Amino acid sequence: EADSPVVVVANRLPVDQVTDPDGTTRYQRSPGGLVTALEPFVAGRGGAWVGWSGAAGEAPEPFESGGMSLVPVGLSEEEVDRYYEGFSNASLWPLYHDVVEKPEYHRNWWDAYVQVNKRFADRAAEVAAEGAIVWVHDYQLQLVPAMLRQQRPDLTIGFFLHIPFPPYELFTQLPWRSAIIEGLLGADLIGFQQPSAASNFINLARRLHDLPYKGNTIAYEGRTVTAKAFPISIDVSSFDELARTPEVLARAAEIREELGQPDKIVLGVDRLDYTKGIGVRLEAFEELLEDGALEAPSTVLVQVATPSRERVEHYVTMRETIEQQVGHINGVYGSIAGPAVHYFNQSMPREELAAMYRAADVMLVTPYRDGMNLVAKEYVAARGDDGGVLVLSEFAGAAAELKQALLVNPHDIAGVKAQLLRALRMEPAETAKRMRAMRRHIKKHDLDHWASSFFESLQAQA
Ligand code: UDP
Ligand code: G6P
Repeated sequence: EADSPVVVVANRLPVDQVTDPDGTTRYQRSPGGLVTALEPFVAGRGGAWVGWSGAAGEAPEPFESGGMSLVPVGLSEEEVDRYYEGFSNASLWPLYHDVVEKPEYHRNWWDAYVQVNKRFADRAAEVAAEGAIVWVHDYQLQLVPAMLRQQRPDLTIGFFLHIPFPPYELFTQLPWRSAIIEGLLGADLIGFQQPSAASNFINLARRLHDLPYKGNTIAYEGRTVTAKAFPISIDVSSFDELARTPEVLARAAEIREELGQPDKIVLGVDRLDYTKGIGVRLEAFEELLEDGALEAPSTVLVQVATPSRERVEHYVTMRETIEQQVGHINGVYGSIAGPAVHYFNQSMPREELAAMYRAADVMLVTPYRDGMNLVAKEYVAARGDDGGVLVLSEFAGAAAELKQALLVNPHDIAGVKAQLLRALRMEPAETAKRMRAMRRHIKKHDLDHWASSFFESLQAQA
């Protein structure tokens, strides 16, 4: 078993085990940006991936899939409840996203988090070859680096946080704040999406643990730990190619047709998550209809809101709110010719998303806070025709790179409305100029660039 030179550890495997109504089980692609980014990387290196299969119960046996060896970790019902839905997604997720919703802290959630992190560390320790590189991912597994180092001091350990990392003033709410900092300090290199997140971490290590630091590095237990930003990206060329295939282009034309050939299509694509600001978009769109600045269905909003974390309370209530808002807008502004908002509470395959990106005149991305937001980068990658305007929240990590997007503050509805109108009215020459500049940036800063700069820094550290 212990033969993998590169091991990725993440809460989720790239595929989820689902059980159909007739009782048969099958695998489907897991949701979210982490899987989008890591899958081509691990498949390309033939590495091992330790993760949860997405269903409660005993862990299935390790298996091969798409050039990767997948090593499932099992979670009991209670652990799904306390470690995944509880501590990961009702304590850490809101705390790390600017407390957009109020985090809850429960001791039995924390106990489950410790227990499950230990299981992931044990499993990684079993499959990693002598001197291997182990790369641990995201907020669900922040204790794994230290737990792993304790068992396997021969390993080189990297950690990457896909979401924001909060400042001292917020992070210190956590009753278990010191344990988390110590867990992360087990890594040789800790990667963040933004330089400000890396400095938040260094600041915490210094103030909470009184550790000596210099620039990006912290001296800890005789080792040097580096904390640095590595903004994540997508496999730009493969997405670009996908969006140019005759099938995708035909589907894009078909989408426009099925929508009744509107003058303008505005698109949103998100997990149904309260950090994404889906309500803001609906509100801005509704007010523009109300003001008479836009008319439906000559302008339509297509919103994909993929089901996510459906048993967590904040997600249940937000879904109700969003669906009421959509129903209200369509009740008032829809007609027999069609609704104003086309809402999909479904998970869409990549090919369909690529066609939607191609069909959309304006992409609206308005999170209150987002580590990166890969959807924004996918939209740019898909627009090899230099068409399409991106409206992007300044609170998404992607805003630091996609500077030619129309940036908005999602708390400022008037501002969102103004930028949406500006996007809808933009001249093709300006649209193309902005899109070309953004495409140049992401072509240089693609997934390969991200993974290799992280890996080079990690190896330099070893
Ligand atoms: N995605 C998908 N199908 C959907 C909705 C989203 O495949 O129906 C993908 C999307 O293409 C992107 C990822 O999920 O690659 C979302 O990543 P992002 O960083 O935007 O947000 P996250 O979900 O990680 O918060
Ligand atoms: C974000 C997180 C990932 C997570 C994904 C989907 O991208 O950074 O760690 O996997 O959302 O969320 P889920 O809870 O379904 O895994």
